[in-house]
Amino acid sequence: MTRFWSKLVDDLDPYVPGEQPQDQQYIKLNTNESPYPPAPAVEQAIRNFAADRLRRYPDPQSSKLVAALADYHGLSPAQVFVGNGSDEVLAHAFQAFFKQDEPILFADISYSFYPVYCRLYQIEFHRVALDYEFKIDFAGFRRANGGIIISNPNAPTGIALKLGEIREMLADNPESVVIIDEAYVDFGTDSANQLIAEFDNLLVVQTYSKSRSLAGLRLGYALGQDHLIEGLQRVKNSFNSYPIDSLTDAIGLAALSDESYFQQCNRQIIASRERLSGVLTDLDFEVFPSSANFVFVRHPDCAAETLYLELKSAGILVRYFKAARIDNCLRITVGTEAECDALIDALKTILN
Ligand SMILES: Cc1ncc(COP(=O)(O)O)c(C=O)c1O
Repeated sequence: MTRFWSKLVDDLDPYVPGEQPQDQQYIKLNTNESPYPPAPAVEQAIRNFAADRLRRYPDPQSSKLVAALADYHGLSPAQVFVGNGSDEVLAHAFQAFFKQDEPILFADISYSFYPVYCRLYQIEFHRVALDYEFKIDFAGFRRANGGIIISNPNAPTGIALKLGEIREMLADNPESVVIIDEAYVDFGTDSANQLIAEFDNLLVVQTYSKSRSLAGLRLGYALGQDHLIEGLQRVKNSFNSYPIDSLTDAIGLAALSDESYFQQCNRQIIASRERLSGVLTDLDFEVFPSSANFVFVRHPDCAAETLYLELKSAGILVRYFKAARIDNCLRITVGTEAECDALIDALKTILN
């Protein structure tokens, strides 16, 4: 606290991302990054990028990238909004749609940035408890609200809702914006983007950080009907006209051009996830059914914090949340096959 901070800043409880240690080579299974490099076309786009282009401001509308994303998702450019990582897109969406008379709703166990945005924008929120298997309790969401946000698949559990369940939630809440945060959708979940024509209250948010191996780039986007995208544009143009730099624009386009590489990496991650889930089950872990690029697990005989610390001293980083209901669980990103093997070997040693 300093006397210069506003009361709002003093009251903030900022989000703390997973460790990004700079000092040692860890096997990093803690922030759900891809273990595979971006598409070869990305490297080519970086090589071909003329530094002289950086003299000029970027296209404030990212028109080419927006058109390509619209085409990719079968939408019109007016239905796409791009931002500096999906975190920024989500922040704009909270500000654009969620400051209402009623509190917004999200699951008690979900992406821990949601309450942080609420505090920043002074949005009331109510956490709806997941059931004992960490599944969404739909009855809990049937109450007056100023908006709903669901991470699908959920983070950090990895558990996904079916499209029919999302449709029901949208139909039940015609007066609220429902945001589906699809950071992990490409690892085996149906995207809600196919419901956009049907529902004027649906905003889908996706990212290049996970399935496109570009967490370091900072590129995310929202899909929704024109009026929602226009709401986001109004916030963005009152905040930063140029959130996407010219190089990111070029790389974002390039990454979209190689569908077969994208599908191949995602297939491999899904296969590794299934193998890892099986082995962890054999090691007596309870493994929640994951549709993401991570698994969420707990062990009946060994505290999650102990496992986290011992894995760290063995050079393997996983994510441990000291939070209610999940402080005996670990979230482990699916790595390469070799990284999964190293994790399994380390766990066998620790558990013996
Ligand atoms: C559920 C969820 N949404 C959004 C994000 C933000 O992703 P990014 O800002 O890298 O696009 C993350 C990152 O871990 C996430 O887990």
